[in-house]
Amino acid sequence: MSAAVRTITTTPFDDQRVGTAGLRKKVRVFQQTHYLENFVQAVFDTHPGFEGSTLVVGGDGRYHNDTAIQTILAMAAANGVAKIIVGKGGILSTPAASHLIRKYDAHGGFILSASHNPAGPDGDFGIKFSIHGGGQASSALTDAIYARSQEIDRYRLLDAAPVPLDDVGAATLGDMTVDVIDSTEDYADLMESLFDFDAIRALLASDFRFAFDAMHAVTGPYATRLFVERLGASPDSVRNAEPLPDFGGGHPDPNLVYAADLADEAINQQALDFAAASDGDGDRNMILGRGVFVSPGDSLAVIAANASTIPVYADGIPGAARSMPTSRALDAVAAQQGFDAYETPTGWKFFCNLLDAGRIAICGEESFGTGSDHVREKDGLWAVLAWLNLLAARRGESLAEILLAHWKTYGRHYYERHDYEDLSAEQADAVMQSLRAQLAELPGRTLNDLTITAADEFGYTDPIDGSSADGQGLRVIFGDAARIVLRKSGTGTSGATLRLYLEELRSDEWELRLPTHEVLGPLSAVADSLCQLREQTGRDKPSLVT
Ligand code: G1P
Ligand code: ZN
Repeated sequence: MSAAVRTITTTPFDDQRVGTAGLRKKVRVFQQTHYLENFVQAVFDTHPGFEGSTLVVGGDGRYHNDTAIQTILAMAAANGVAKIIVGKGGILSTPAASHLIRKYDAHGGFILSASHNPAGPDGDFGIKFSIHGGGQASSALTDAIYARSQEIDRYRLLDAAPVPLDDVGAATLGDMTVDVIDSTEDYADLMESLFDFDAIRALLASDFRFAFDAMHAVTGPYATRLFVERLGASPDSVRNAEPLPDFGGGHPDPNLVYAADLADEAINQQALDFAAASDGDGDRNMILGRGVFVSPGDSLAVIAANASTIPVYADGIPGAARSMPTSRALDAVAAQQGFDAYETPTGWKFFCNLLDAGRIAICGEESFGTGSDHVREKDGLWAVLAWLNLLAARRGESLAEILLAHWKTYGRHYYERHDYEDLSAEQADAVMQSLRAQLAELPGRTLNDLTITAADEFGYTDPIDGSSADGQGLRVIFGDAARIVLRKSGTGTSGATLRLYLEELRSDEWELRLPTHEVLGPLSAVADSLCQLREQTGRDKPSLVT
């Protein structure tokens, strides 16, 4: 084999520091000669143990997926990797990849995705390195990879023809085995081991109207395998099931804006009893019932409150976690039910130590991410099955009734996220700075009849390994009643995005079914005056409200 290994001379790119979830850039950035190669070699050079190891590789099927996979295969073979497990057609959802790493005890994996960001030649691309156990690389590791990328001067690559990936089977590349597998089987087996499939099958066989929108992204084949083949749903209940390199020109981000048709059918037309959608790489989810949208914070809280209906959690859960900006609906459940609640920085990697240590079983983020200890990524289809499992366990109650009963018990945390996209870095920093500068003097002040009890910049110390993360967002807290959070996005590929998160708790019964924007209007005005968003950005409204 050694004869075919080439060592290529290269020079560093200065922008290979990863964000909230991997290295995400425009496709054209990744298409630059040596760009992907430099990053991948930096991983091989930094993280020990690749020699003789097994890796998992796959992506969400977006434009450039095939090319990138072939590059990674050729580089892995030249760097001594013994075996690579690849999804058929190069396709693996993010949670399925995490599962494969765990199931086959792989040393790690490369997941190719820019999540819900648009795809195509002018769209986005991304790469994420996952470690043994299936979680995302820690900040310490990604910092070391970045440091290596700044001094890299060569990479290794095997000179060989591309490996065909369209059919299941084994191939070789130099001394390395390439195992092409259909990961939908492994994934469906895992789901079947967690949930009550008989009860869900019976629910779907009744007059229950169900639809799942795969948004022409990665979940189509998984959803078909699960809902149609294993659970007996009608084939047309899985919509837009074929993964397309440009996601059909759409924006596969499951929220009320980008999955508007499905939302209209469920909420306005009330033509579905339960509907859900997932994102580009299959880790996000949106949950809808007849006439209702379930906000992600509520979804997490309801799933946690009803965890014992899920067979694997029949005896209860030790704890649950949410990212800091996610609504405190989860905390209300934890307080009443007596399990531990954790608050972590934004990004799934911060849940992994808690999951590994058995401190938490369920976790989630306001950004339509929910998951459990079954993998180390958020998992859109897991959330959909958790809801189906719940609806089957409480058969006869509609989703809206389940939600209302939840709010009556725990109160309702009205919630909105306002995104200000495409700002300049200076504008975003100016807004952050104007709020940061006021933090010390805010406690004690009363605004909109609410008194500020604390105001700070969130920092986190991991209770398992003691690592810390500072500067994780600004919080203005009005006791249990309300909260304003402001942070800068770490996943964008151009300009800067600011996220403003608004949360207000209402507990009286007459207040449980008010329009969200009506409840949050005054808090939004308070946030605007505190952060001076309009003055600093010149924007009179957010680019997106979710
Ligand atoms: C966003 C979400 C965050 C999520 C991440 C990856 O990150 O807010 O919850 O973990 O995408 O899906 P952000 O752009 O806010 O840094
Ligand atoms: Zn995603």
